[in-house]
Amino acid sequence: MSVAARAAPPDPHAALRADVLAGLAHRPQRLPSKYFYDARGSALFEAITRQPEYYLTRVERALLARHAGDIAAGVGPRARVVEYGSGSGLKTECLLGALPEPVAYTPVEISAAALDACVARLRLRFPRLPMLPLCADFTAPLALPHPATAAARTLAFFPGSTLGNFEDAEAVALLRAMAATVGEDGLALVGIDLVKDPAAIEAAYNDAAGVTAAFTLNLLARINRELGADFDLDGFAHRARYVAARERIQTHLVSRRAQAVRVAGRRFAFSAGQAILVEYSHKYRDARFAALAAAAGLEVAGAWGGEADGFGLRLLRRRRAAD
Ligand code: TRP
Repeated sequence: MSVAARAAPPDPHAALRADVLAGLAHRPQRLPSKYFYDARGSALFEAITRQPEYYLTRVERALLARHAGDIAAGVGPRARVVEYGSGSGLKTECLLGALPEPVAYTPVEISAAALDACVARLRLRFPRLPMLPLCADFTAPLALPHPATAAARTLAFFPGSTLGNFEDAEAVALLRAMAATVGEDGLALVGIDLVKDPAAIEAAYNDAAGVTAAFTLNLLARINRELGADFDLDGFAHRARYVAARERIQTHLVSRRAQAVRVAGRRFAFSAGQAILVEYSHKYRDARFAALAAAAGLEVAGAWGGEADGFGLRLLRRRRAAD
C-alpha cells in the first residue's frame, strides 16, 4: 500500500507549533510577533491605534493627508500598490485617493479576517480599482497576483513602523526582498517611528485602558486555543520598556509567579519574573534608516515628517550608482 496515499491531512497549526516550541526552548525565551494577528489580535491592534497614547497611527495618517499630493507626484500615474501588513486599510484610503489612476491594489495580510474587512471597506471607497488581495506572511517570498492592466510601476507601501518590529539584519533582508518585488523602477513608501522623548514612546505601548496588555496576552490565548496549551492569562503580565541605548521598545510577557505550562504535550517551567520576549519596536534616526536602506540597495528619494512630528514617511528607490 502506498504510504503517500495515507498521509495525514496538512496540519494548519504546524508552523505555529514549531515556532512556539522553538521559541520557548530558546534562552532567552521569545515568541514571534507575527502570531499576534489572529482575528481578535487584529481587532485589538485596531483598538490600540485609537488609544490617545498611541500617536503613531494618528501622526502617520495626518502626514499622509497633508503630503498626499507630493507623495502622489513622486509615485506617478498607473501605479500598482502592494501594502505590507494592511490591517484595516484605513490609512491606505488617503494614499489610494491621491494617486493618479492606480491600476491595482494588493493588500498582503497574515490575518484573513483583517484582509477581508480591508478589501470590503476599500471596495466601497474605490469601486473601480481592482483589488487583488493576498493572505500571506510577507516575510516569506510573495507570489503576487498580476493586474489586468499593466502598471507603470509598483509601489510597496509599508506603514505603521512595522519595519521597526524587525532587527536590523531582518529589516535589511525584508527591504531587499521588497526591492526585488517592486523591480528596477519600483518604489517603497515606508512609515518609521522616530527617536523622541522616552516617556511619550513608553506611554504608547502602555495605554491606560490596557488595550496593549490585552493585545500581547491574546498571543497566549491563541496558543492555548490552537495548540491545546494551558497558559493562565492571569499568570502573565504585559511589560513594554523603552531601552534608550538600543532605541527600541522591548515588549515581554512576564510570569507573575512560579508556574508550569503545557504546550503541545511539553512542559515548560517558569520562575516568577521570567520573561518571554514578544516584540521589538525600533525607533529611528534618519542616518540609521538611510543606512538600513543603503544596505538593501535602496536610497531615500522623498521624506515627509521629521523630528517635530515624531514620525516619518520615507520614499525609497533603487540606489543609483554614484557618479
Ligand atoms: N508596528 C506596531 C508598533 O511597533 C505594532 C505594535 C503596536 C505592537 N503596539 C504594540 C506590538 C504592542 C507589540 C506590542 O508600534
